[in-house]
Amino acid sequence: MRKLLLLILLAAGFLSVRAQDVSLTKGWKLAIGDSAQWASPTYNDQHWQAVNVAQSWEQEGHPGYDGFGWYRIHVVIPSSLKQNAFLKDSLRINLGSVDDNDEVYLNGKLIGRFGGKTGDIKTGSFYGPRTYTIAANNPAILWDKENVLAVRIFDTGGDGGIYGTNFSIGMADVMDHVTVNTEADFNYGERNSLSKSIKLITTNHYDYKGKLAFKVTDPETKAVLYEKTNDAAFSVGRPFTYSFEIARLEKKSYTIVYTFTDEKSGKEITHTETTPYLLTPYPSAKPKINGADVFGARPDHPFLYLIPATGQKPLTYKAQGLPDGLKLDAATGIITGAVAQKGSYPVTLTVSNRLGSKTKSFTIIIGDKIGLTPALGWNSWNAWGLSVDDKKVRISAKAMVDRLSAHGWAYINIDDGWEAEQRQADGKIIANSKFPDMKALTDYVHGLGLRMGIYSSPGPRTCGGFLGSWQHEDQDAQTYGDWGIDYLKYDWCSYSEVTPANPDLPALKKPYQVMRSSLDKINRDIMYSLCQYGWGKVWEWGAEVGGNSWRTTGDIQDTWRSLSSIGFNQDKAAPFSQPGHFNDPDMLVVGKVGWGPSLHNTRLTYDEQYTHISLWSLLSSPLLIGCDMGHLDRFTLNLLTNDEVLAIDQDALGKGASQYLKKEDYQIWVKELKDGGKAIGLFNLSDKYQTISLDKNDPALKGYTKFRDVWQQKYVITTGKDFSAKVAPHGVMLIRVEK
Ligand code: GAL
Repeated sequence: MRKLLLLILLAAGFLSVRAQDVSLTKGWKLAIGDSAQWASPTYNDQHWQAVNVAQSWEQEGHPGYDGFGWYRIHVVIPSSLKQNAFLKDSLRINLGSVDDNDEVYLNGKLIGRFGGKTGDIKTGSFYGPRTYTIAANNPAILWDKENVLAVRIFDTGGDGGIYGTNFSIGMADVMDHVTVNTEADFNYGERNSLSKSIKLITTNHYDYKGKLAFKVTDPETKAVLYEKTNDAAFSVGRPFTYSFEIARLEKKSYTIVYTFTDEKSGKEITHTETTPYLLTPYPSAKPKINGADVFGARPDHPFLYLIPATGQKPLTYKAQGLPDGLKLDAATGIITGAVAQKGSYPVTLTVSNRLGSKTKSFTIIIGDKIGLTPALGWNSWNAWGLSVDDKKVRISAKAMVDRLSAHGWAYINIDDGWEAEQRQADGKIIANSKFPDMKALTDYVHGLGLRMGIYSSPGPRTCGGFLGSWQHEDQDAQTYGDWGIDYLKYDWCSYSEVTPANPDLPALKKPYQVMRSSLDKINRDIMYSLCQYGWGKVWEWGAEVGGNSWRTTGDIQDTWRSLSSIGFNQDKAAPFSQPGHFNDPDMLVVGKVGWGPSLHNTRLTYDEQYTHISLWSLLSSPLLIGCDMGHLDRFTLNLLTNDEVLAIDQDALGKGASQYLKKEDYQIWVKELKDGGKAIGLFNLSDKYQTISLDKNDPALKGYTKFRDVWQQKYVITTGKDFSAKVAPHGVMLIRVEK
């Protein structure tokens, strides 16, 4: 066992293991439509479709369907559940996640409902996890007999139905409503140490008293690095705090398991987390210019580009060869103006500070295409959901300029939730009270050198139930132009209500063509981001309808299951990636996410997050940070500021990586780069450490002599006939090969 210094200052921990619960994972049936009879236990559902509730009804054979649907399951609820429980008051039903709003019936009786604005199941988007708790003496429960659980769902747009992993019935017991709260950031200390405080919290009126076991293991060697048990007690309003420090860590993740055992009930709760490790080298104080090598704009349209540069401040900027019409602010690095003449303009950018100067060749292309490399920015959705407001957007813009734009991050995009209830009398769209002055907000963002994005739907309503652009497309595009918007995410949502069911290809394209022509009428470059979840193989025609990017999938979640099933299934879309037109496997789920208003640390492990950014960069995907920018922790910042990784995403060739090798538990993805090199990701899809190797004579590597570890930004010395890398569970080795 490795020697490890660890100081326990205090203690706390948790998460429930419920072996005796009845699983509801299998046996569900689905019917599309709506009927009051479907709640009834005597209704015969034998002819209904058997479904896998792990995935939405779109993926279960109902593409593009929005509206009502019912799920039913027959299940015996054993009274042993009650007997084995310490607290015997309530039954708890976990129904995975629901999209969007639902009502739940047990043996014909309504036992719970969730979502729907002002109680109307048909409005609003309240998708997310569902747990219903009912009294154990509720006569709706038939103990030791067959019960029929029926779930009525209304999907207002996008994916619909039941999905997820957490399906079970059990008693609400001692450890329910107990949380092992590990949300605090890790602190990075000397001798590669990490320290942190966690809390045991409850909302149950019960005095918890027992032991908290704390265990740190190395998932590679299985060695237990630290093990300690402390007394712990907590109750409502009196959390238990446990602080620890672990030192002399290597550059990898360790697993921490917290287990609290309550003395009186004998019940326990466990919670696991991994430890962060930083791979991106600390930025040099010497000046350096980062970001893409090209930038495209249309003639006579307002031009805005902030030269991304790192180095000790103050920095000063120079640009040689700027086309007529553009000027550079030497102190901020912001280039503005408009260029009349089409053409390709080679420019030499220089950034200087007291330690020296650095130049970079950069090409400004004035022509028909914009978005020559994928958008790098932030979008409000994965953090704030519908609770986004002016202040959060300003905080994000300020944080981006202070901490990220030096690496090329440039877009600040407002997602759903900004729109007023009603249009003005003349039909003009206006923002709701959370956005008092959209023009002023956009001016603020532009003043920082950043660009501003907004969101709408071709339907009458957005997925969140706000106003869409239906029959107001020209007017909305004009308003966006007046405000100074630079990016539009256009989300199908309720468009299903105004187009025939099961739309064919022309019908799928139509709303996007309509808005395209509206955008073309205004005097601005507006990046056009199509969002319709990949229907009709949008990657085959997204460019043709003028999209700069198009979502290839339903919504991402901050889980390995979601991330890996989206990311590793992009092979069909990848060949369609090209400058100006990119596949979008959805926004990033790193940092503090939560779909608003309350946030949590992403549930991805640190290795999964390295995989996320590596794979998305290999795919030339837009990178839209989906977290609270006001609280960027050190790991997240380190993850998002690796210039060599971002350069792979921003490579001017614009190719999407191909799935070069697909094995049961590992995959290799290869992306061709503009300079003739390649970026290669070796991904470990298994739960164990493994060594992934590729013969140096393999066509992917043949002719290349230099192998660069992109995350660590250093060349790897390899001997022998293979290139081999030891890769962490769900982790990646990202390399760039050069001749
Ligand atoms: C979904 C979309 C999400 C988000 C949301 C807003 O359809 O996929 O990314 O935009 O709508 O309501």
